[in-house]
Amino acid sequence: MSNLYSPSIEAQATELLSKMTLNEKLGQLSQVSGRGAQIPSELADGIRQGRVSSVLNEVDLDIVNELQRIAVEESRLGIPLLIGRDVIHGFKTIFPIPLGQAATWSPDIVEKGARVAALESARVGVNWTFAPMIDIARDPRWGRIAESLGEDPFLCGQLGEAMVKGFQTDDLSSVGSIASCAKHFVGYGASESGRDYNTANIPENELRNVYLPPFHVAAKAGAASFMASFSDLNGVPASGNQWLMKQVLREEWQYQGFVVSDWDSIKDLQVHGLSASQKDSAYLAAKAGVDMEMVSTCYIDNLGELIASKQIDEIEVDTMVLNILKAKYALGLFVNPFTDPSSLPDALNSNHLEDAKEAAQKSCVLLQNNNHILPISKQATKRIAVLGPMANDGYEQLGTWIFDGEEKDSVTCLDGLRALAGDNIEIDFMPVLANSRDHDTQHFDKALDLTNSADIAILFLGEESILSGEAHSRSNIDLPGAQAKLIEHLYASSTPIVLVILAGRPLTIQPILNKVDSILYAWHPGTMGGPAIAELLFGDACPSGKLPVSFPRVVGQIPIYYAQKNTGRPAAEHSYVYMDDVPQRAAQTSLGMASTHLDTHFTPLYPFGFGMSYANFAYEQVEISSQSIKIGETFKVSLRLENHSNIDAEEVVQLYVRDLVGSVTRPVKQLKGFKRVHVKAHSQEHISFEMHTDDLAFYDIRNQLNVEAGDFMLGVGSDSSVELTLAFTLTN
Ligand code: GLC
Repeated sequence: MSNLYSPSIEAQATELLSKMTLNEKLGQLSQVSGRGAQIPSELADGIRQGRVSSVLNEVDLDIVNELQRIAVEESRLGIPLLIGRDVIHGFKTIFPIPLGQAATWSPDIVEKGARVAALESARVGVNWTFAPMIDIARDPRWGRIAESLGEDPFLCGQLGEAMVKGFQTDDLSSVGSIASCAKHFVGYGASESGRDYNTANIPENELRNVYLPPFHVAAKAGAASFMASFSDLNGVPASGNQWLMKQVLREEWQYQGFVVSDWDSIKDLQVHGLSASQKDSAYLAAKAGVDMEMVSTCYIDNLGELIASKQIDEIEVDTMVLNILKAKYALGLFVNPFTDPSSLPDALNSNHLEDAKEAAQKSCVLLQNNNHILPISKQATKRIAVLGPMANDGYEQLGTWIFDGEEKDSVTCLDGLRALAGDNIEIDFMPVLANSRDHDTQHFDKALDLTNSADIAILFLGEESILSGEAHSRSNIDLPGAQAKLIEHLYASSTPIVLVILAGRPLTIQPILNKVDSILYAWHPGTMGGPAIAELLFGDACPSGKLPVSFPRVVGQIPIYYAQKNTGRPAAEHSYVYMDDVPQRAAQTSLGMASTHLDTHFTPLYPFGFGMSYANFAYEQVEISSQSIKIGETFKVSLRLENHSNIDAEEVVQLYVRDLVGSVTRPVKQLKGFKRVHVKAHSQEHISFEMHTDDLAFYDIRNQLNVEAGDFMLGVGSDSSVELTLAFTLTN
């Protein structure tokens, strides 16, 4: 891997290390939590004594600059502080939740969002964000799927890299660049039953082919830090896992950045039962190579003793300290640790808001549009009923992990509709329910009256933001409260109904599909969700989002994802037998004998990559440059994308490949390329994917990265259900 830091940074850090006492070294391994609006004396004293390396959750600029001043002017060696914050999808200008940003399938849009977040957070002295979160997430019960970039290693890797670039730019020391943190290393998204913090048992081959790849991409992209996951990974929690942190991250990947624990995750090793004491926890985490301890104090309390008793060699601590010092040098903190806000753009400026609106607009996924109810005609519509608890809630539309975004800055969906509808359309608004979990149906009849008297009803339902995110997993992912009942109630009306869902995860909405005409999935769209959604509903913009995660029909299908293995008895339409169709007293072996559930069809409600448009696209002349390709060579896949509609629109073209035979079984298809393409009305675009056989490499039976000769199939289409029709062969 390319050297993350220049030789001069290495030299400066080494020189500084040589002057440090052991206590000062241990201080560099410690991150403490800020206290907001004041600096407690013990924090100031700790900094003076060189016992604090980083402060998280302090975003008052005057306090941050004072903390830095104490560090550089009142401590013996004047080592500046890393100021950390969870700037996950925006700081003051809030972008869609990462799962929504992933639905844009646009590295450019995602990079721009991270850039805006970096500029706005750097303005208050933040120089390190705990993002991107690149955990592969295939279980929508897991609350943190909201923070993820979805189920696919390739898409997640591409978008995670874009976030690293957006946060760091190509000069970490430049004003407005902040250090990124690839988290949570690794396998957190595989928490059993989707319960947060739960055990993750993932075979090494699956780790290497599915969960590790996005982190490897982030490491190669120069992510300044990694964060250890809370997870008990195959019996060894990540914060004490030498195989993961030493063999994979350092030896195989030659990663040069630093590793931070998650909050108390070193101390939690004792709770896991991996250690019998805080001292043991410190030993295991240090041996594993976790450099900095977030909040708990196992290191600073015990490493001195562990060195004195020669259980740990001081040189091991030196390596940990160096990893952290190099990041501080790379950030330019030794040159200037202070923040001058006038050197950075104002938060919430028009450019930032425009970027947030574009991200929100291109994150929305059109799931259904019966009878082309959408877009709404401004000319033909006189009255719109706007209903639902998510229609006018500037707080809930921001989503999870919002520490600094404010409701007052949001433009709600109702505001957006009113602004765009103008004077000739009357809008009747009613929340109907107090919030997404409300079970009170007393206003349902009034809602039905409003619907009956309108030309069209737009229903804004979903999940409050608190129902996803950390420690907020659900075992049932239906619409909460009485929302589904409200849809049933309004079904009595002949007025067309558009359902807009704001949620932090896929929801099991199969029961209501035939009760509404159109469905737009907006995730939690952030500050500018209102204008973005309104422009889509009125046709000022065309929906172009694509699902970054499969939607289950029922929660019992989970985990369900497109890149599944074929099994020895794959499900197939011709052999599928639905439970109610099973003959009385059917013989044991009379059914389909395939990998299915009796009571639910074996496909997802919506497949990975799915998303409708107002335009009508056709994929023509999909070709491959050669049917036989020598391993080590490049090849090209080309096609013509036609827009057979009278509107300009964007389409995310997706390329999937299947490796028919491998030394380990291979998924039935894998995303290997995608492009967001703009096609003018009644026009066409010629698209090509430049490929290399290395793109088809995988970790084989020996867990070695390898490209194996053999037969492949390939397809290009608008979602993962595309049929793979092009055969080609790799030869040695
Ligand atoms: C949390 C999260 C982690 C976050 C950290 C700091 O527990 O797991 O993602 O960055 O603590 O807030």
